[in-house]
Amino acid sequence: MALARIEIDDFRCLERVALGLDPRYNLFVGPNASGKTSLLEALFFLGRGRSFRTRRLDRLVRHGREDFRIVGWIKTHHDTTVLGIGGNRRGTEIRIGGAPASGAADLATHFPPQIIDPEVHKLLEEGPHRRRRFLDWGVFHVEPTFLDAWHRYHRAVRQRNSALRPGTDPRTAPAWQAEIVSAGLVLDRVRRDYLALLEPVLARFGERLLNLPVSVAYHSGWPGGETLAEALERSADRDRRHGVTHVGPHRADVAVRVDGLLARERISRGQQKLLAAALTLAQLELHEARAPSTGALLLDDPAAELDTESLARLLGVVRETSAQLFVTALRPDLPGLGRPGAMFHVEQGRIVAAGGGCEIVDNN
Ligand SMILES: Nc1ncnc2c1ncn2[C@@H]1O[C@H](COP(=O)(O)OP(=O)(O)OP(=O)(O)O)[C@@H](O)[C@H]1O
Ligand SMILES: [Mg+2]
Repeated sequence: MALARIEIDDFRCLERVALGLDPRYNLFVGPNASGKTSLLEALFFLGRGRSFRTRRLDRLVRHGREDFRIVGWIKTHHDTTVLGIGGNRRGTEIRIGGAPASGAADLATHFPPQIIDPEVHKLLEEGPHRRRRFLDWGVFHVEPTFLDAWHRYHRAVRQRNSALRPGTDPRTAPAWQAEIVSAGLVLDRVRRDYLALLEPVLARFGERLLNLPVSVAYHSGWPGGETLAEALERSADRDRRHGVTHVGPHRADVAVRVDGLLARERISRGQQKLLAAALTLAQLELHEARAPSTGALLLDDPAAELDTESLARLLGVVRETSAQLFVTALRPDLPGLGRPGAMFHVEQGRIVAAGGGCEIVDNN
């Protein structure tokens, strides 16, 4: 499975792009502000239904335009599926094979991109939200029950929160508690199971990239020694005062430790990039182990923040994945990944295939 072709209209600085892609390794080279990250952002949007840079859709529409459009052709041995996303400041519309999709999760089974960009260290540095999202993406791909439990859980939390707010009958809140516990315990179990699969792969990549021991621990989102039901009971007064549910899997976190210390307290920025990359690559390896050559890795300016040796280590691990690669760089001489199957020049929002073999350029 690979993204064989992409068309992008009016997304960020990209006015009109139409590219034939290599199933293995695509390299996009261009100066600062030429549109390299914008291209990866469009690819990410195609598989995730959201940007990795902003939540604001209006930022994504090209200045002076109303709508953007991203269309991708996913090729398997048997057939081709067309994924289409239209977006404007009000929302997005997703179509798969011409039919409307129910949500972004439907895209992920066709094109599941991972990204390592210059901001990847935020996975370790910022609050738990990013780590939960990272974890849940991995769980979603290995555990069929996850999505249903996730939706049930979050709906029940929203309902309980509304029931806790002033002016509503407080007796309705406990009714949602049973649902929170039932779906929450499924989430807790599948996340722990996934992390147990991830940890040895992460330890191996951590050793290779950082030469340091890396471990992970799951924090469930409620105090240890209590059941989720007990924690909800105990938190009920506080929850009522604030109108929100303070305990449960929506407050979970993953502690990433290096040498026994929390990563953000132990290692430098460059090392954080390597560690966050190790997490992403570990997740990609689990994905590829189950379904070889179905993943995609977006690697934005891998040289940023890294010295020559660190970059070589990172690209050494990247080179081993069977996922389709989309790499950006300021210069074409990126060492360590071998010869790209397709290389493109990016300049002022235009993307041109370098040399023969690939389509296109159409900016007019
Ligand atoms: N909605 C938009 N419409 C038009 N242009 C935009 C929009 N959003 C961002 N841009 C512009 O797109 C240009 C390319 O940005 P991008 O981040 O893709 O560059 P880049 O090639 O990744 O640069 P760098 O090497 O510095 O990371 C920037 O000049 C930016 O101001
Ligand atoms: Mg960039």
